Amino acid sequence: GYTAYEALSPLSTGAAGGKIEVGTPADFQSGSATYVAEGRFYVVNTGSTFFALSQKCPHLGCKVPFCDSSGRFECACHGSVFDIGGEYVKGPAPRGMDRYHLALDNGNLVVNTGILVAGPDRGAHQYLTPPKGPSCLEKS
Ligand code: FES
Repeated sequence: GYTAYEALSPLSTGAAGGKIEVGTPADFQSGSATYVAEGRFYVVNTGSTFFALSQKCPHLGCKVPFCDSSGRFECACHGSVFDIGGEYVKGPAPRGMDRYHLALDNGNLVVNTGILVAGPDRGAHQYLTPPKGPSCLEKS
């Protein structure tokens, strides 16, 4: 089969490092995380910094949802929790969430999906704030 070959061949665009324009900084409210399906990342505004965080949990790769009630990323697979900046809070993840290269170009935020930087060490707490409210993992 050609099916196996198809599965192994790289995507014609994107995988080799596509640049995705996501909007202007004013489009992203402080403390928000906006999912960009095209690149499988979140654009977050920590209030002081913008990041493009990979959706892929640094533990075993599940898609990490953003929990609006707590204002944190909470992985339902094994309970890893990350703050708005993607920094490690708790759980089995070995580090914070990985980040794609993000730059301001002519007033637009541009994410380069070809450049992925490993998430910060577990001890990083630069953007850590108390949870805004209940965790999504504890809801029944
Ligand atoms: Fe996210 Fe295990 S894959 S905690």
